Parts: sequence; C-alpha cells; structure tokens
Amino acid sequence: MMPRHFLKLSDLSADEARSVIARASELKAQATDLSYRPFVGKTLAMIFTKNSTRTRVSFEAGMARYGGHALFLSAGVTQIGRDEPISDTAKVLSRMCSAIMIRNDSQADQEELAANSRVPVVNGLSDTHHPCQLLADMQTWFEHRGDPRGKTAAWIGDGNNNVCHSFIEAAVLFGFTLKIASPDGYLPDPAIVEAAGSSVQLVDDAATAASAADLIVTDTWTSMGQEAEQQKRLAAFAGYQVDRALMDKGASDAIFLHCLPAHRGEEVTAEVIDGPQSVVFDEAENRLWAQMALLEFLLSQ
Ligand code: CP
Ligand code: NVA
Repeated sequence: MMPRHFLKLSDLSADEARSVIARASELKAQATDLSYRPFVGKTLAMIFTKNSTRTRVSFEAGMARYGGHALFLSAGVTQIGRDEPISDTAKVLSRMCSAIMIRNDSQADQEELAANSRVPVVNGLSDTHHPCQLLADMQTWFEHRGDPRGKTAAWIGDGNNNVCHSFIEAAVLFGFTLKIASPDGYLPDPAIVEAAGSSVQLVDDAATAASAADLIVTDTWTSMGQEAEQQKRLAAFAGYQVDRALMDKGASDAIFLHCLPAHRGEEVTAEVIDGPQSVVFDEAENRLWAQMALLEFLLSQ
C-alpha cells in the first residue's frame, strides 16, 4: 500500500486535520504520562539542508519521549550533500526507517523523495510550504480561543512565503477567512490563492487586514536563502511591521502568532511579541505535540 505523505497541509482532509489537532492537545494534556510509547522500534530520518532549531528539536525530543529514535541527517555529513540522487536516498532510507522528515528548498525534490519512499514523508519546511508549522498554529488557536471556524486572521508582510502559503491552506481546511496584506512583488503564489477561493482576500494595507481580526500573524521579511536581498526587503516591507497600533486594530482578544525565529524591530516590535497578546512560545511548544500526533496518524494508515 502507498504510504500517506504530508508535503502540504492540504494533503490532509479537513476532518483529518481537525482530528490531528485534537489528538495533539490530548497528547499535551497527558504530558506527564511517560508510559505511552507508540514509537518503540521506530526511527525517523530527518534530512536538513537548511538551519533549524524548533523543527529539529521538536521531532527529536518527541521521538525520544514516545520510545522511538530520530536521526539528524545534514547535507554536510551525508551523501545527500554530494549529489546522491534523491530517489536513491528515498529508497535506502525507507528500507531502514519508519518515516522521513525533510527540510530543504525544493517542494519538487520533496515530491520526488515521497514518490520513491515506502514510508511516510513529512515536509519540515520547503521554500513554498511549512505545513507542520500550521498544525501547531491551529492547535494554538484552538487552545487559546476555540474553534477558528468563521473567524478572521490577518497575515501581515511577506505573502510569497512558505508559512503564508500553508496558512492559506489552513484557512480552507479550518473554515476561517485569511486577509493578506503584502507589498507589490511579495504577494502569495496566485495558484495557491486561487485554490483557496473565498477563504482568502488580498487587501491593500496592513491596517485593513488587521481590522477586527481574531488572529494577527507575521513571519520574517527575509527567509532562509534570501539573505542577499535583505536590504531591498527591509525597504519593501516598511509599513508592514506588526506594532501596538496595528494590534489595536484587531479584535480586543486577538492573539499574535509568529513561527519564529523573529526579528524584533523588523516584522514585529518587541512590545507585541513579548506582550500579553503574543502566544508564540505556546505555538513553538505545540510543534512537538502536533508533529507527534501527525506521525501517529501517518504511521497508522
Ligand atoms: N518555526 C520553525 O520552523 O523554526 P525552526 O526554523 O527553528 O525549525
Ligand atoms: N519563512 C521562514 C520560516 C522559518 C521557520 C524561512 O523560510 O526562513
């Protein structure tokens, strides 16, 4: 049987996504119970060609907690960095491991890895999607404010961004409206926007997006791999900082999300990210619970 992969959030149905989130909160509520060990004998291969703190640690700590093992495979110390075909890597890893997580640039390479793998492949970030982040983000929204269905979120800043693209898919799956404010030249992928239909609105400015929003979210203006464009980007995103005044345009109980790492004074002020509406460290913690619920789901298919 073909394994289930998780390369985009929309690889899950709405019911499946909701049930993974609910399970994530259940696992979190039972955090003190160390006797539950569903991953004994299971190994997760983790391929990283880009930096990571949260993604690596959440998968590795989660596998240890639940009785399994995680292998950190960076390009620099494996044959992946010496041009071994990704299809061969997939065939080899999937004969030895129970699942593969990959963080790299290319969604197409992830698809090739998945097409050649006997075991589930999980996207730990590509240039175009970051679906694991959105499982944690939706869990965090549920935990703080209940079901996102019918609510409104505002994405401020870089729309042509992996987290934003997965947020767009989340709007469809979880039934909320996402208003996106991005400068010209930094709009999300039109195909992803089009697939989301009326769940997504591109608006002219940050204040319009934030107006009455239940959740306000942003990400770095310079993603990994874009470092050479940093000065140009700082100029392009002036006017898209999430500050106190912008948060005040949202609903009075709006929460603030950021996948981290954050750049205080650029996409968000310290006052906001370290302030009372920010739930970014719950969001970071939820990476562990959401991904363990995801692996439990994928390995049970
Ligand atoms: N949010 C996130 O994916 O963080 P890392 O880059 O530290 O894994
Ligand atoms: N958009 C960011 C997310 C980091 C978790 C990046 O790709 O660098």
